[in-house]
Amino acid sequence: MVYYLQTLPVLFIIGVTIRLTKSSFCHESEEVKLNCVGIFEIVHKCNAEFIQNAMTTADPFTLCTNDFSFRAYRITMKYYDRLFSTHDPKNESALCSDQYLNKNKMNVITSLIGNSKNLWTTANCDQCYNTLSSTSKNFTTSTEDFLNSLQLLTNCIDKVTNISFVCNKCETHYQTLNGIYERIKTSSNNKICFDLEDKMNKTRRDWSGVYKCCRDKRDSLTAFYSLATTIFIIAVSFYSVVYFVGSNYPERNVLDEREVAICRRSEIRDSAQPGQSSNMSSFDRNNLESQKKSTEQDNSDNEPLILSSPLNQALERLN
Ligand SMILES: *[C@@H]1O[C@H](CO)[C@@H](O)[C@H](O)[C@H]1NC(C)=O
Ligand SMILES: *[C@@H]1O[C@H](CO)[C@@H](O)[C@H](O)[C@H]1NC(C)=O
Ligand SMILES: *[C@@H]1O[C@H](CO)[C@@H](O)[C@H](O)[C@H]1NC(C)=O
Ligand SMILES: *[C@@H]1O[C@H](CO)[C@@H](O)[C@H](O)[C@H]1NC(C)=O
Repeated sequence: MVYYLQTLPVLFIIGVTIRLTKSSFCHESEEVKLNCVGIFEIVHKCNAEFIQNAMTTADPFTLCTNDFSFRAYRITMKYYDRLFSTHDPKNESALCSDQYLNKNKMNVITSLIGNSKNLWTTANCDQCYNTLSSTSKNFTTSTEDFLNSLQLLTNCIDKVTNISFVCNKCETHYQTLNGIYERIKTSSNNKICFDLEDKMNKTRRDWSGVYKCCRDKRDSLTAFYSLATTIFIIAVSFYSVVYFVGSNYPERNVLDEREVAICRRSEIRDSAQPGQSSNMSSFDRNNLESQKKSTEQDNSDNEPLILSSPLNQALERLN
């Protein structure tokens, strides 16, 4: 019992410390019906935290993805908007914004909030997230992919002991990261969340400047692409030649066969005709045959010559 009583002051001090720490940092209020003073307190605390974070996350630029600046920014804007929708309990016809904003020509609060907003939108920070106003972090899938891929590349580079092996060992990780980045760039119309843009810029600079990967790689890549193109062109030409020739030959064969068939049929008809026309006079027949012989002699060069050669004539006479 005495022991428990002794620990009470200690617990009290811890409790007070936690409460003080919590209230001095930017956080949302659990109270549903917050008055103007409460809302304004959150706005100025969170905006101060955001600006402080912006100073420390400027280079390397991590303003958008940093936990504290993200939360501070989203809470600032959420409660700043509430100033324009919450009524002053002392004067129901007035809004909280009437009490705090535009009191004189300096418009200090509007101007400072405007600065934060400008910083956030110029950096395209919302592009990193799925929602435009939620105060809980929800990265887009492509942001997650990019950050994971960058982590893999960083791990890979950290593991390599000799810097001259980085290009070889981590090339695939680098190309994957590059691919994801280019896809984000295209799909967002070049409005890339600046955290990613800055990370990619530094990664590319290190890749060519520190690890000296790009120059040789590009040369060999160019050689590879030109070789691949040449092979591709040759293959395409070869296959198109094979295709056209291959597709023409069977057609021509079919035609040839058809022509041959037609020719044979007409030959058969021609040779059958003299026999069929039995009422043809012998004079006509002799005439026809002599005509045929003369055309044969005119048209063909070799056979009639052989037939009319002296040797053949001698042989005929012997018969
Ligand atoms: C209440 O607010 C309105 C609008 O800002 C203002 O015109 C009016 O004078 C205020 N009334 C009092 C009693 O402060
Ligand atoms: C994050 O956003 C996606 C898409 O808008 C949604 O499906 C998911 O539930 C969200 N996750 C959280 C934790 O809010
Ligand atoms: C790294 O590797 C290169 C090539 O094999 C070698 O010339 C160089 O001495 C190595 N450097 C270190 C620090 O081991
Ligand atoms: C990328 O880095 C270079 C060198 O530091 C810098 O001059 C350039 O502005 C950077 N590009 C972007 C888009 O930040």
